[in-house]
Amino acid sequence: MKEIPLPASPSPCHAHLQYLQQLPMGSLVLDENHRLRLWNRALQLLTGMNESQVLGLPLCALASPWTELFDDFINKNAPHRHKQRLILAGKTHWLNLHKAGLGEQGLLVLVEDISETWLLEKHLMHSERLASIGRLAAGVAHEIGNPITAIACLAQNLREERENDAEIAQICQQIIEQSKRVSRIVRSLLGFAHAGVRELAREPVNLAQLAAEAIALLSLDQQSTPVVFHNLCAPEHVASGDAPRLLQVLLNLLANARDASPPGAAIRIRSTIHEDSVELLVEDQGSGIPKDLKNRLFEPFFTTKEPGQGTGLGLALAYAIVEEHHGQITLDSPSASEPLGSCFRVRLPSYTAEPSSAGA
Ligand SMILES: Nc1ncnc2c1ncn2[C@@H]1O[C@H](COP(=O)(O)OP(=O)(O)O)[C@@H](O)[C@H]1O
Ligand SMILES: [Mg+2]
Repeated sequence: MKEIPLPASPSPCHAHLQYLQQLPMGSLVLDENHRLRLWNRALQLLTGMNESQVLGLPLCALASPWTELFDDFINKNAPHRHKQRLILAGKTHWLNLHKAGLGEQGLLVLVEDISETWLLEKHLMHSERLASIGRLAAGVAHEIGNPITAIACLAQNLREERENDAEIAQICQQIIEQSKRVSRIVRSLLGFAHAGVRELAREPVNLAQLAAEAIALLSLDQQSTPVVFHNLCAPEHVASGDAPRLLQVLLNLLANARDASPPGAAIRIRSTIHEDSVELLVEDQGSGIPKDLKNRLFEPFFTTKEPGQGTGLGLALAYAIVEEHHGQITLDSPSASEPLGSCFRVRLPSYTAEPSSAGA
C-alpha cells in the first residue's frame, strides 16, 4: 500500500517534547551531556523553579534537594523508585520516580507526586484497623454482657433471700458493684464498636451549645483535677452532624486535656469557620504530647495512663466518629513560643439550611 504523505509537522523529537510539556506528571529530559533540555509544567509547579531558570543547566546546578534527588536516582541502576520521601517547604511529599533512556536524545525522568494517594492509603489502613478492632470489641462485649447481667441478677436475688445475713448482703453488694463496673466497660466498648447501631444524624449542631453541655457534664466529676474550662465558641458556628456523637468527641478531648493539666489550669474551646466547614479547637496548658507518640495517639488501646485510669479508646473513638462525619481530627504541633500544652482540631462540615424538600 502506498504511504500517504503527512502534512508538514515539527520534528518528531520536538513534538514529543511538546507532549511531555503537557503531561500532568513532572517530566525532565537530559541531553547526553546531562544538561536539562525539558522541564515541564508539572515539574515547575512541584519544584517552584521555572523552565527559563533551569533549561540548559547541568543537573548539579539545580537547587537542593533536587540535584541530590535526581543525581542519586540517575546514577543507580533501578529504572523506578517508589515512595521517595521529600520535605518541600516544611511539607512531606512522597514521589515515585521513573526513568527511560532516549538513545541519542538523552534521558527522560518522570516524577509522580503520590502524596495525596499515600495519605489516603494511610487513612484507609487506619480505618480498616479501627473497623476490625471495633468488630472484635463488639463480639467480646456482647459475649461478656449477658453473663454479667446474669451474675448481677443472681447476686441481687441472693441478697433479698438472705437479707438478715449481713455478711452475705455485703458480699452480694460487692458482686453487684463490680458487675456494674464490668457493664460500664462493656458499654464503652460497644460505644466504640458503634458500627451499625444507629444511622448518623445530620442535624444542625451549635458548637457553643455543644461546648457548654460538655463542660456542664465534666464539671459534675468532682474527683478529677480541678481546671477552668473557657467556652470561646462563636454562637453562630454550626456544624452538620450527630449531636450526641459529637458531644462524645468533645467530652473525650476535654477529659484528656484535663487529665494532662495541672490544677487550676485553663482549657479553651474555640471555633473557627471556613468555606464549607467549621473547626472546633481544644487547647490545654498541660504536659503536651511527645513527638514520638503523636502517630500512635489515635490507635485503639493506646494509653500512657496507669492501668485502671485509661482505656486508650477515647481518641480512637473520637477519630471514628469524626471520620463518620467526613471530618478530620488532628493534633497541632506545639509552637516554639508555647511549647507546653496540646491543641486538638476537629474539622466538621458546616451546616447549611437545605432548601425545603416539601413537594419533592
Ligand atoms: N491533651 C492531651 N495532653 C497530653 N496527652 C494527651 C492529651 N490527649 C491525649 N493524650 C495522650 O493520648 C493517650 C490516649 O488518649 P485516649 O485515647 O483518650 O486514651 P486514655 O485517655 O484512656 O489514655 C493518653 O493516654 C495521653 O497519653
Ligand atoms: Mg481519654
